[in-house]
Amino acid sequence: MTSAFYITTPIYYVNAKPHLGHTYTTIAADVARRFHQMKGKRTFFLTGTDEHGDKIVKAAEANDMEPHTYADKISALFKELWPHYWISPDRFIRTTDADHVAVVQRILQEIYDAGDIYFSEYEGLYCFDCEQFYGERDLVDGKCPDHAKETVPIKESNYFFRMSRYQQWLIDYIHENPDLIQPERYKNEVLGFLREPLEDLCISRPKSRLQWGITLPFDERYVTYVWFDALINYISALGYPNGEKFETFWPHVHHVVAKDILKPHGIYWPIMLKAAGIKIYKHLFVHGYWNVDESKMSKSLGNVIDPIELKESYGSDAIRYFLMREMTFGLDSSFSEVALINRINADLANDLGNLFSRVLAMFQKYFKGVVPDWNPEESRVMGFDLKAGAKQAIADFTAEMENFAFHRGLASVWEYIGMMNKFVDTAAPWELAKQESGQERLKAVIGNLLEGLRVVSGLIYPVMPETSATMQVHLGQDPDHEFYLVDELRKWGFIQPGARLPKGISLFPRLDPDAVFAEDKATGKHAAETKKAQAQQYTPLEAEISLDDFSGIDLRAATVETAEKLPKADKLLKLGVNLGFEKRTVVAGIAEFYEPGDLIGKTVVVLANLKPAKLRGVSSEGMVLAALDRENASVAVLDRPMPPGTRLK
Ligand code: MSP
Repeated sequence: MTSAFYITTPIYYVNAKPHLGHTYTTIAADVARRFHQMKGKRTFFLTGTDEHGDKIVKAAEANDMEPHTYADKISALFKELWPHYWISPDRFIRTTDADHVAVVQRILQEIYDAGDIYFSEYEGLYCFDCEQFYGERDLVDGKCPDHAKETVPIKESNYFFRMSRYQQWLIDYIHENPDLIQPERYKNEVLGFLREPLEDLCISRPKSRLQWGITLPFDERYVTYVWFDALINYISALGYPNGEKFETFWPHVHHVVAKDILKPHGIYWPIMLKAAGIKIYKHLFVHGYWNVDESKMSKSLGNVIDPIELKESYGSDAIRYFLMREMTFGLDSSFSEVALINRINADLANDLGNLFSRVLAMFQKYFKGVVPDWNPEESRVMGFDLKAGAKQAIADFTAEMENFAFHRGLASVWEYIGMMNKFVDTAAPWELAKQESGQERLKAVIGNLLEGLRVVSGLIYPVMPETSATMQVHLGQDPDHEFYLVDELRKWGFIQPGARLPKGISLFPRLDPDAVFAEDKATGKHAAETKKAQAQQYTPLEAEISLDDFSGIDLRAATVETAEKLPKADKLLKLGVNLGFEKRTVVAGIAEFYEPGDLIGKTVVVLANLKPAKLRGVSSEGMVLAALDRENASVAVLDRPMPPGTRLK
């Protein structure tokens, strides 16, 4: 088994902000990356933005901006989107990055020196709207396929890449490497293109027509055009031609794209690599389109779904699950919120969420939160063998995920979840609990169920990383440990007798579609309740305490009198607070969200009997209470005037 895995997405044009189509591809690549992490591989994940060319110049002009400022702005929207979906690329490349530009020029020069780039006068049919030449064959009813406008024959001198020379080589290469392009239908489509004579590729534009590009190293009157710039990102990102990264990852590169850019990836790119003497990529995985009301989701049709709004309403994991479960990789799918809600309710709230909360609730009820003494060797209980079921689920899941059949991979996990739900119904722990003689069996039932849930939490890691970590915490496991490794999942018996587990939670609240859409009409902001529930879902509840325990916690009203940032500490604010009977210094980790002046004069809540602690050299004498997550903070303030020093109880 190879130990490295390199996955790429297309680099997206910066002529419009990201939509759910881009998000799907990037999630699919992230899922594949996480799946290979499960197999213990070292992975590299690349995404980024494609910034040169006249598309971008036009979009910038329309927004009254310079191309580079416009590119900065839109590129940042892509970059900032990915963390919302738990995606962290190893590199976010921009075609305006200096190291990328240098590699493009280097390769152009090499191929030019080798004689595969030549200068020639070209006469073609030009569309002024897309600023592109078309061949007779590309036209639809004699017009530009994109704009349905008349094309104009024009003559222009340009540089061409001699692709025709490699046509037979590529046909043979694809036959010799039958899994190069997947699924099979796209391999056949590429072979179909190759049945017609391959035209040489025009790779330049004169600067008189376009300046926003990379200058040809052998003729500074020209810039290179689109594909010769963009495709090379896949190697420039790794530091081609040298370096450990390139050597480690390039031999294991997998590209993910949608069918719109099959031709550049299935034909131009392998030929460019061959001409430059670089090993051909390992696999090209091609998926279909997300449609809305029968047409492709795209900016020009104005039917795009905003991924941030969607995540705010439903949560990242639910959407990741829906996109991966609903689309058969390679085929088109339709997006609708009704379908999304149905999946959330059926698969997430009902099957997985219900299983998780009822197992944990029974565990709390019958064993008071302490794992009973169960024997993992005895996995066959009342006709069900959850250990064997897990083994089967892992085998089916890994086989499907290997081939990007994400929907089938998930289906095999859900089959196992179904088996566990049936086991609960059949074993009826509530009956066993009533009988003296049922106690041993009850331990075995709950022990095996907890262990089965641990396996499920690992198997959903690629698609639902957030839920996976939440489940781990509630099963008493360490979410920072590589719990998802397939080798670990294959073992049975991690849930240790004697371990104390926190209370269960509802992983996915059920959505009422009527309420979701009713709210939608009235306020334009639907599913707000769901959003709240999702945001709160992953901090487990602490163990129960008594009123006596609480009386040891001394909370006081305090007025903020001074506030300043602590030097060299991005997150910390130093506050001077007045507790009435004394003044104190308190350091609060809220500086990312509050300007020092924001809190002056407010009456906040301070944990006043907390042992002082030194933070960055400052003694903090108490703690200001605040609601805090990764994206925001809100300091607790009293809603009516109260004298400082008043106790909260
Ligand atoms: N810049 C080029 C790619 C260069 S790669 C070396 C480009 N950019 S793009 O912004 O148009 O992105 C196209 C890609 O976005 C598709 O291949 C696909 O990954 C994704 N999608 C855009 N719309 C989509 C759908 N409606 N459905 C599925 N994927 C979609 O082409």
